[in-house]
Amino acid sequence: MKTHTAKISPSLLAADFLRLGEEVEMINRSAADWIHLDVMDGVFVPNISYGLPVVERVKKVARKPLDVHLMIVQPERYAEAFRDAGADILTVHLEASPHLHRTIQQVKNLGMKAGVALNPHSPVALLEEVIAAVDVVLVMSVNPGFGGQSFIEESVNKVAKLKKLIDATGSRALVEVDGGVNLDTGRRLVMAGADVLVAGSFVFNASDPLARVEELKNVIKSRNNTRDTWKQ
Ligand code: DX5
Ligand code: ZN
Repeated sequence: MKTHTAKISPSLLAADFLRLGEEVEMINRSAADWIHLDVMDGVFVPNISYGLPVVERVKKVARKPLDVHLMIVQPERYAEAFRDAGADILTVHLEASPHLHRTIQQVKNLGMKAGVALNPHSPVALLEEVIAAVDVVLVMSVNPGFGGQSFIEESVNKVAKLKKLIDATGSRALVEVDGGVNLDTGRRLVMAGADVLVAGSFVFNASDPLARVEELKNVIKSRNNTRDTWKQ
């Protein structure tokens, strides 16, 4: 039996910004696979977080791929700047992208992996025509904008639906889930087909974040998740 552990992408939104360098070093030492950075513009979502200079500084110390989640309008205007700042995976919101196909091509042509995020109300079926070209689908399991919100239960079914679509089309996209992830929701998401779990408050509010990441990575072992995907 082949076991599979999910990739873990701790979200820096829940980190102590006064000690950001140390927090990134902690993730470097941890079992985490990626580092998740949430960029918010106060327009697409009702909150403002941080932007290019922070991504650029984090890149200098990070030893794991930067997983940049753009919660901004017109993300295509900033794709190149985030590539230059050090993004390895760049995720744009479907709801913010009237020309999503073009934006996915743009992100890939810039040399990054292309992610598409879905708000809780957006159906998986909206991805049918682009799924073959996408590297990551980010399922929002909370309404984007804030950390520490409670998990939307329907997200587990949504992940299962998405996995069906991916399998049916032979897409190699990874399924990433963001919002309210803990050991319980994480395990159920992985069983439903999630490949990558984003965790903010669950990791950074822990008294021992290193142990937390390890726990999240190990507890969620699944037999049903051995399909071929790209490696990062
Ligand atoms: C929310 C962000 C998330 C956030 C998750 O808009 O996209 O990445 O940091 O935080 P938790 O894990 O605390 O729900
Ligand atoms: Zn996020």
